[in-house]
Amino acid sequence: MIIRPRRLRVTAAMRNFVRETRVSPSMLVYPLFVREGNGIVEEIESLPGQYRYSPDTLPRALEKVAAAGISAVLLFGIPAKKDELGSSAWAEDGVVQQALIEGKRRFPDLIYITDVCLCEYTSHGHCGAIRDSYVDNDATLPLIAKTALSHVQAGADIVAPSDMMDGRVGAIRAELEQQGFFNTAILSYAVKYASAFYGPFREAAGSEPSFGDRRSYQMDPHNRREALREMALDIDEGADLVMVKPGLPYLDVLCQVADQSSVPVGSYCVSGEYAMIKAAAQRGWLNEAAAVCEAAAGIFRAGAEFLITYHACELASWMKEGRL
Ligand code: PBG
Repeated sequence: MIIRPRRLRVTAAMRNFVRETRVSPSMLVYPLFVREGNGIVEEIESLPGQYRYSPDTLPRALEKVAAAGISAVLLFGIPAKKDELGSSAWAEDGVVQQALIEGKRRFPDLIYITDVCLCEYTSHGHCGAIRDSYVDNDATLPLIAKTALSHVQAGADIVAPSDMMDGRVGAIRAELEQQGFFNTAILSYAVKYASAFYGPFREAAGSEPSFGDRRSYQMDPHNRREALREMALDIDEGADLVMVKPGLPYLDVLCQVADQSSVPVGSYCVSGEYAMIKAAAQRGWLNEAAAVCEAAAGIFRAGAEFLITYHACELASWMKEGRL
């Protein structure tokens, strides 16, 4: 007798019925760049179709996100002034803080996640405080905790530290509890590799390090077990959700983290992954919708419960059309 798995693939109804991975727009998170100023909507050269907004124009983007049925946005700030320690990151009237107040007022049902890091705010572009040309892990922790607290005070629902300092999740958790914020979730960029695929983001945010690189604090792409250790430490310190970043080059890691994590796991399909598909699609070398849907299916199949992607709005409509 010939065994025929093919029988389950003959009709679309049958394929849908036996699908192992099912998705919905509620699993998507849309990253947004907010820069200081007024009336700004400027396209990001390295990310065609993505824009920098000022806090007053941001609601135009939020409206589309809400209409698409996407659950959450992830906010990145681009300040007017950078300094050695990145002090605009925790300013009460900082750009992310303003964006949160405006966003929550206009679209209160969206989930507001904020990226907590210093690299967009420091003059040297590193994610922490510098001592003797090194990033000083422990001197950075209180600055990260202070930044997270100020986001929460401005209305953030989830804070997402991306700086990769050891102990930051614990430092943020302690600071929030001390100030009485017991209901804020922490989404840790627990497994974040030192990746070339962040290139377009750094252009968008002006956060390229002025010397050296981020390899002393971000992870080595050659390591898989280290990911499990980073995940376990962050969960121990109080992370409510974790992510693996970037997406496609790290599906093996995502799969294992998703198997072993006791909290929800997400994947961040980063700027370079978006730019790659966009560039090929613009030349007619790839079918954008088909490629993005296939990539997203791979990420969900590997075990992600949520996906952060610059393609979130398009993906939501492709999902509704049944393309994914
Ligand atoms: C901040 C941060 C970065 C990204 C997210 N948070 C840049 C970096 O680590 O250099 C990258 C996101 C993307 O490429 O889309 N530390």
